[in-house]
Amino acid sequence: MAFPQNFLDELIARSDIVDVVGSYVQLQRKGSNLFGLCPFHSEKTGSFSVSPDKQIYYCFGCKKGGGAVNFIMEEEHLSFPDAVRFLAKRAGMEVPEEEGDREAGRKRQRLLDLNRDAAKFYYQLLQQPEGQAVRSYLERRQISRGTAVKFGMGASPDAWDVLLTAMTKRGYTKSELLEAGLAVQNKNGGLYDKFRSRLMLPVIDTRGDVVAFGSRVLDKSEPKYMNSSETPVYSKRRVLYGLNLAKKSKRPNIILCEGNLDIVTLHQAGFDNAVASMGTALTVEQTRLLSRFTGEVVLCYDNDNAGKIATERALQILNNSEFSVKVLQLPRRLVNGEYVKQDADDFIKLQGPDAFERLLSGSENGVEFRMAQVAGKHDLGSDEGRIAYCGEISDLLAGLSSAVEREIYTARAAEAAKITPEAMKLEVQRAFGQRLAREKRAQLRRDLNPAAQLQPRERTLRYENVRSARAEEGILRLLLLDESLFPSQPPLAAEQFSSSLLGRAFAALWQAKTDGRTVSMASLAATFSPEEMSHLTAICQQPESARNGKQALADYIRIVQTEAAKRTGGTQTDPLLAATEKYKDKKGTGGKQHG
Ligand code: CTP
Ligand code: MN
Repeated sequence: MAFPQNFLDELIARSDIVDVVGSYVQLQRKGSNLFGLCPFHSEKTGSFSVSPDKQIYYCFGCKKGGGAVNFIMEEEHLSFPDAVRFLAKRAGMEVPEEEGDREAGRKRQRLLDLNRDAAKFYYQLLQQPEGQAVRSYLERRQISRGTAVKFGMGASPDAWDVLLTAMTKRGYTKSELLEAGLAVQNKNGGLYDKFRSRLMLPVIDTRGDVVAFGSRVLDKSEPKYMNSSETPVYSKRRVLYGLNLAKKSKRPNIILCEGNLDIVTLHQAGFDNAVASMGTALTVEQTRLLSRFTGEVVLCYDNDNAGKIATERALQILNNSEFSVKVLQLPRRLVNGEYVKQDADDFIKLQGPDAFERLLSGSENGVEFRMAQVAGKHDLGSDEGRIAYCGEISDLLAGLSSAVEREIYTARAAEAAKITPEAMKLEVQRAFGQRLAREKRAQLRRDLNPAAQLQPRERTLRYENVRSARAEEGILRLLLLDESLFPSQPPLAAEQFSSSLLGRAFAALWQAKTDGRTVSMASLAATFSPEEMSHLTAICQQPESARNGKQALADYIRIVQTEAAKRTGGTQTDPLLAATEKYKDKKGTGGKQHG
């Protein structure tokens, strides 16, 4: 998996961070850095920075950062080697491939081939006598043959090893079947088919690859739905069921539902812009995927409590994004004096496509949905109810970032509470002030607690000795800022660092320096995980001046040595202490604190 170092160095040198990031994010220069909207989280004001000098990016909002390779890994969802290949192609460089990499690529392709062959197998079986039960089920659910074909639906047989036998006959190994999640191992090590007696729903990504399967039982048994586990070719956070079809839709938005069969019914009824998150809450990765195809999302979750909560969560993710969001609320259905849940599938079957079209065009935006939720909680016929409503609604309105929206909905809330718009406006202003004060207090708490602020975001990287770690960070910053500051011998051993991450980073940078290569953040991408890179990049964001560099370095080194000596219980007998002392003597200004 290792690429030759000189190849990586050249690749990084030829992949300027501003060019690489600039082809995804609109950047604007502010001082020596460039800023834009972070592609990794939803935001309206740019906290995403790119430093041409350091050749790194860093988001002050979500705290992700790294070099060009890290950016491509994150943005294109690629592994390190694949991101390197991606950039190499871009830079027109040939990649010196190793056998291992070709092997990994082949393995992925094998899994995709296996999924495709399995999908074909289930698909064909649907037409055979063994597929009768699933065919009747489709009929019961009013799913036409044409729709079934469009979604590549199939039938898994009522047997333990039919797929296993068919696929091994085609040359796939048992471990491949296990890895693809199509076979399961019993206690004795024997394999059997995971999907049996089910309607099979292949999950197809936007490239057209079958990456997984969803499936439904034909009767009332449990589990009702069974999906593929996570595999090297499938991460459920990054896929939306039906998007392979919806991406070609001419409709102006994308409808997001909970269930696979809701999607099937909607497409059949002419709503070919529907996708499902397959029972999981909407993820940031899925919204990024959606943003490639649409600017407007219509949430159409079930109208039960779980659906309301899912809607609220999705709104939170989508609210600060570029999307315009609508909520399509399905009416509840009254059956024998009781309200029952209704999903898109139920609604279309009972009320027809035209009624759904009307709901779609009349669907509320996110604010209206939330306001209706709040209104539903209070009895607006009573004085206490109206007061409570005003308290809660003003908080919601104060949170709207657009002043125009705030004004419009404040007037509407006043109407609902039967008070004057002026009174409502005052209430919202008060809530607005409280909100600001809350944020200020939170910021103050953060500022007053630098130790907590210093801790890496990633729990596993947490510092045990903040004093030492702070100095260790300073050493890394200085080494990156001006490598000429460093003596010819390493002033510290990696083991003396209290944070193993910082120690390893130091060793890696030092190695680069010794080898005469570029000492840069970007070059660490090969050895450190994306979380580690994010933290290392964050460290580089802290101010550090090279002007007093030698003295600062000596101070940092002394702190690390003192803390290391405390740990081992020994005295400062480090042979390299001399190097530090030398600096101290030269400058002779003593222990001023830096960083
Ligand atoms: N789901 C799942 N695993 C389960 C239950 C549900 O993965 N055990 C996912 C499926 O993708 C399903 C979606 O969640 O399509 C919605 O589930 P549910 O609300 O139970 O769907 P129903 O509408 O009740 O399903 P159906 O109409 O098929 O009876
Ligand atoms: Mn349903």
